[in-house]
Order: sequence, then C-alpha cells, then structure tokens
Amino acid sequence: MHKLRSLSAATLAELLSRWSARLKSTGGRPSAPLGSRILLNPDDIFKHNMWDHVQWTEEDKENACQKAKENSSEQIPLKEQGKFDIEACQYWDTFYETHQDKFFKNRKWLFLEFPELLPSDAESQTRNTLTRQHEHISSTDLLRHSSHHQESCKAADLENNEGPIQSSAFPGQHTSFKILEIKGILLIFLFDREKDAFLYCCDFSPRAIQLVKEHPDYDDSVCHAFVHNICEEVASFPFPPQSLDVILAVFVLSSIHPERMQGVVNRLSTYLKHGGVFLFRDYGRYDFSQLRFKKGRCLSENFYTRGDGTCVYFFTKEEVHHLFSNAGLEEVQNLEDRRLQVNRGKKVAMHRVWMQSKYRKTHPSSTS
Ligand SMILES: C[S@@+](CC[C@H](N)C(=O)[O-])C[C@H]1O[C@@H](n2cnc3c(N)ncnc32)[C@H](O)[C@@H]1O
Repeated sequence: MHKLRSLSAATLAELLSRWSARLKSTGGRPSAPLGSRILLNPDDIFKHNMWDHVQWTEEDKENACQKAKENSSEQIPLKEQGKFDIEACQYWDTFYETHQDKFFKNRKWLFLEFPELLPSDAESQTRNTLTRQHEHISSTDLLRHSSHHQESCKAADLENNEGPIQSSAFPGQHTSFKILEIKGILLIFLFDREKDAFLYCCDFSPRAIQLVKEHPDYDDSVCHAFVHNICEEVASFPFPPQSLDVILAVFVLSSIHPERMQGVVNRLSTYLKHGGVFLFRDYGRYDFSQLRFKKGRCLSENFYTRGDGTCVYFFTKEEVHHLFSNAGLEEVQNLEDRRLQVNRGKKVAMHRVWMQSKYRKTHPSSTS
C-alpha cells in the first residue's frame, strides 16, 4: 500500500506557477496540466479514483527499481524473441478480434492536453503562411512521391476494393490542417467537421482499421484510415513528405521494439511540415503496469511481452528527449505524468507513470 504525504506549500506554489505559465503558453485556450486533483490530506485518498502530480519518496523509487530488477532477472531466450517482433501484427490483430471496439473510448482529455489538435483560426493562418514560406517540397519531389504513391494506392485499392485515387491527388489534399494518428480511433469521435482539417489514421492491424472504418462516426470526407506498418522502411504514406501539421502517437511507440523506435520517429518526422508538431503520450518507467509483470515476460531492459504476445516498453524522460531530438525536432514539452490510481473497492493505490511530450519541427530540413 502506498505511503501518503501532504504536498509542501513550496511544492504547491511551484505547481501553481507552472500551471499558470502553461496556460499563458497555450494562448489562454483550455489547458489541463496533466490533471489538477492534488491530494493534500492523506485521509482523503479514497474520495477519488485518481490523484495528480504525485511525488515519489526515495522509498517509492527504491521499491520500484527493485521490483523491475526482479521481474527482468529472467529474460526470454533470444531465439524465442523473434516471433514477438515478426508476428507483432498478428498479435495485435488477434487483440482487436478479441476485444473488438471496447478500447475505442471517447478521450476528451486529448484536446485539453494537446490543444495543438484544434488550432485557433489565427494559428491556422500563421501555420499556413509559415508552410508556404518554407515549402521545401520541390515539384520533382512531389512528382516522385506521386508516382510512388499511386503504385502503393493501387495496391491498397485492390486490397480494399475501393475505386482508385485519381492522378496525383491524395486524400485530404485540399485541407489546410492535416493530422496523422497512429491507430486513429481517438479522434474520430471529436473531429470538428467545421474546421478545414483532415485526419489520417493508420495501423498495421487490418482488423483495427476495419473497426475504425465501421465506426458510425467515420466519415471519409474528413478521414482516411489505412493499413500501414510504421516499422516498414520502404512503405510510403498516402500523403507527401512535409505535409502534416500534427502526428499523434498515443501508446503506440511503446509497442515497438526499442531498436526500431528511432527509425520510426525519424521516418514519421519527414512527413511533418515546418512548424508541425509530434504529440506523444506513452508508458513511463516504473509505471504500475511494468512492476506487476511476472518473471519470464521480459524481452530486454524495460521491454516486456504480455500474455497475448503484444509488447510494451517503459520510457524515461531522457529517452523520449533523445528519440525526438535525434530526429531533428525541438522540445516544446517533455513531462512525466505521475499519478496515484485508487481502487476504492479494494482500498489499494497504484503509482501510474506516463510520458507526455510535444516536439516541433522548427527546421525545414529536419528529416532523418
Ligand atoms: C496500445 S495500442 C494503442 C492504440 C491507441 N493509440 C489507444 O490509445 O487506444 C497500440 C496500437 O499500435 C498499433 N501498432 C503497433 N505497432 C505498429 C506498427 N509497427 N505499425 C502500425 N501500428 C502499430 C497496434 O496495432 C495498436 O493498435
């Protein structure tokens, strides 16, 4: 059971000042700095299901470190590990076959934490001006992409049984604000059709994409869902490089083998416009879900496979920073979201740790 302490006045003041700075930094738009429910009195713990901005004691840190050490003391033999990478798509497909759309929740918090997903009109204009000024897609690049794109679209069309995409056009081409979400189900519930915006959703699981397309809110005039493996080095996307305003990856990179992550972030970043932003939320090091792994599920340090064969990595703040800055992006935000999740029925509290980061492409040639 978690040991509880009150936050000191100094810590509280520090948090309040950070929140107020953050509100200013979002131009006064609604901002939820990773929640604002602070546990001030330990006796109140069972009054809510979740407490925000929880500070870890030295003892908490040592316990967590010890548990992770224990559950990773036996690693799955290397010769058995390959299947978790090679067959990752099948494992996720089975996951969606089993759970269907149970995980397709309406997550309003996304727009509070990532106001970049809904830019103000003024921001849209500035962004478009910036893009025009720094447009670095030469007509040759576009033509090259277009013919490559047509080939991959033809293949996808055959597969999806849909009509071919005409000439060099690409879905969402004429919208001024383009978002790519890996998986994509998070946004379709809330996508504001009044905005001149377009959402691309991709996942390597055909079943996941089928579920997205079958959702009653899916509208192909503002959305294009397609099967794509982001680890594939040669597969192209149905939009040209430097065309996206936002890439959203929520609990996606953690499911990829750590050795592949840098390549994935590098490749995805080439599709961001100058000024575009990569939004990331994922598991943090020593999250409760890492510590509860039993021995024998560890693949490599801080990387595990669940009983259903899907994999999960637990990030530190420094690792996240390296991943995105090595891809040529600049930090806007890189936070650890530490919470206390409470099971009021069982009277237990669990430390949750998530990473939340935003990295912007500030240099037009940030590509690799
Ligand atoms: C933990 S789920 C998170 C999904 C969603 N963002 C959410 O929060 O509910 C991870 C998703 O990433 C997808 N995924 C994992 N590896 C991928 C890859 N290499 N290419 C494309 N999608 C991948 C899986 O199919 C799955 O839908």
